[in-house]
Amino acid sequence: MMCDRCRVDVAGLSENLPTTKGDEGEERLVVKKQIKMEVNLRWLKYVVAFSIVSIGLFVASTVHFGPGPFEILNPNNVGSVNRPWTGTRSSSSSSLSGISLASRLVFSSSDAGSDTGVGGVDGPPLAELPRIAYFLTGSIGDGNRMKRLLLALYHPHNQYLLHMDRASPASERLDLARYVAFHPIFLTVGNVRFIVKSNLVTYRGPTMIATTLHGMSVFLRKKSKWDWFVNLSASDYPLITQDDFLHVLSSVPRGLNFLEHSGEIADWKMEQRVHSMVVDPAIYRSSKSDLIFVKETRATPNAFRIFQGSAWMMLSRDFCEHLIYGWDNLPRLALMYFANVVTSPEAYFHTVICNSRQHFNTTVNTDLHFVAWDNPPKQHPLSLNSSFYKGMINSSAPFARKFEENETLLDTIDAELLRGRRRAHVVVGGWCAGNETEGGGLVATASAEVGASSSASGGEARAGNFHADPCSVIGDPVALRPGEGAKRFDKLIQRVLEPTYFRGRQCV
Ligand SMILES: *[C@@H]1O[C@H](CO)[C@@H](O)[C@H](O)[C@H]1NC(C)=O
Ligand SMILES: *[C@@H]1O[C@H](CO)[C@@H](O)[C@H](O)[C@H]1NC(C)=O
Ligand SMILES: *[C@@H]1O[C@H](CO)[C@@H](O)[C@H](O)[C@H]1NC(C)=O
Ligand SMILES: *[C@@H]1O[C@H](CO)[C@@H](O)[C@H](O)[C@H]1NC(C)=O
Ligand SMILES: *[C@@H]1O[C@H](CO)[C@@H](O)[C@H](O)[C@H]1NC(C)=O
Ligand SMILES: *[C@@H]1O[C@H](CO)[C@@H](O)[C@H](O)[C@H]1NC(C)=O
Repeated sequence: MMCDRCRVDVAGLSENLPTTKGDEGEERLVVKKQIKMEVNLRWLKYVVAFSIVSIGLFVASTVHFGPGPFEILNPNNVGSVNRPWTGTRSSSSSSLSGISLASRLVFSSSDAGSDTGVGGVDGPPLAELPRIAYFLTGSIGDGNRMKRLLLALYHPHNQYLLHMDRASPASERLDLARYVAFHPIFLTVGNVRFIVKSNLVTYRGPTMIATTLHGMSVFLRKKSKWDWFVNLSASDYPLITQDDFLHVLSSVPRGLNFLEHSGEIADWKMEQRVHSMVVDPAIYRSSKSDLIFVKETRATPNAFRIFQGSAWMMLSRDFCEHLIYGWDNLPRLALMYFANVVTSPEAYFHTVICNSRQHFNTTVNTDLHFVAWDNPPKQHPLSLNSSFYKGMINSSAPFARKFEENETLLDTIDAELLRGRRRAHVVVGGWCAGNETEGGGLVATASAEVGASSSASGGEARAGNFHADPCSVIGDPVALRPGEGAKRFDKLIQRVLEPTYFRGRQCV
């Protein structure tokens, strides 16, 4: 515990000036330097005494406010992932207040965008709370749903990137871009971005892959900090809060890739998807048109094996870097191959990861989604309504799809699963430091959902009403308040990381 502080101080001493160079004003810079010096002097003794020890204990050291020690991935310990929090890190707010103080001190520099926190994948792993890079994509008419999804997923510790298909009218894209740019919370934290130069995307076509890779590379640029990449569409919705999500993931090895996949492909699928060829005009045309089906067929590849599965996934930063910067040539060759495959987004990532000696053993065979299918399955999943609520909860999945706009089940999810999230408000989490009593109170919100939401939707335009939101004051981003959702999601993680499930379903 102490040594960990030493470690932070050592980093601070050696790179005191460069790391405070942020885009904040001068004032904050000076204040920060002062804080840092204070901390440094106070702990100087320990720095000297423990610096050697701390290097030795670097990986094994535990931050008392953070997750457990980083688990080095290896076949023997993945099944029994250490979960130090189950007993101690429960949501009691009294224990968290002490924690916040300490973490605020330590994290004061990383908040300014310095690099003393989680480095890239090359640096030694630190026991910091993981960060998710959410890539949200939508098309014509998805503007409102994307706003709602963004609010439901928002947490200041994460990164968000929005993309709207070029087929949508410019006014709609502009509206969303404006919304992101002027939202008071997003403006303050600065972790939501919007791709202005949007792509033309063909559903089922390779331009979908190109857009996903585009999102990844934007996230990788500027060395922004994140550990997992998650892409969602406007018809997805979370079933747990981000506090729950980050809390559970904090004890999951960072290198794991969650994607549902299989190498056993039915004959009809083989014929339809592997032997037949398509051309996606969105690659070279400026307006949308359908895929062109080619008459010729081609043989099953034998230079690599095809894998396919669900297009919804959570990929590790390590694997994303492999796709974008990789020295191995397979990601590029596969990209060219899949340019002529129909529904290639359901196979590209799966094929690349399963044919990579370095990465295949990091796959976890689940897409983390609750999806309902007709019997027998049709091409599209069923739209969810209240009859699926029980099954959805029972699935323990953190996300579900697909939802129609304004579906009443979404209101139920907001009220019951997302801490009574009010319309046009973000989900209340441990980071919200505003006055809770003023806006009707956290406790009262859930019960007064109907009244609160109707008044909030009316007051959406009134800026004054915003201050009633406890989240209008941004507190400590690493002070989590996990709830029931964390228990559910943890159950799912336990199940999929159980050794026979985990190892038995990797790339088979
Ligand atoms: C995967 O294999 C590599 C190399 O064989 C090993 O270093 C790594 O720890 C393994 N990862 C997992 C999750 O088993
Ligand atoms: C995620 O990316 C894949 C691959 O590009 C794509 O097929 C899928 O539709 C994306 N999912 C969402 C929700 O955008
Ligand atoms: C929900 O959808 C299913 C399948 O689409 C349908 O059978 C069911 O009647 C719907 N339930 C409600 C409450 O609308
Ligand atoms: C609940 O989920 C478990 C495992 O996910 C499944 O076996 C069981 O049938 C489900 N129960 C209901 C009532 O859906
Ligand atoms: C959903 O609700 C919003 C606001 O109440 C409304 O503007 C929009 O048209 C509705 N969308 C649909 C598809 O009903
Ligand atoms: C919250 O607001 C109420 C009413 O405006 C006030 O009485 C109370 O002191 C405030 N609490 C804090 C912690 O600021």
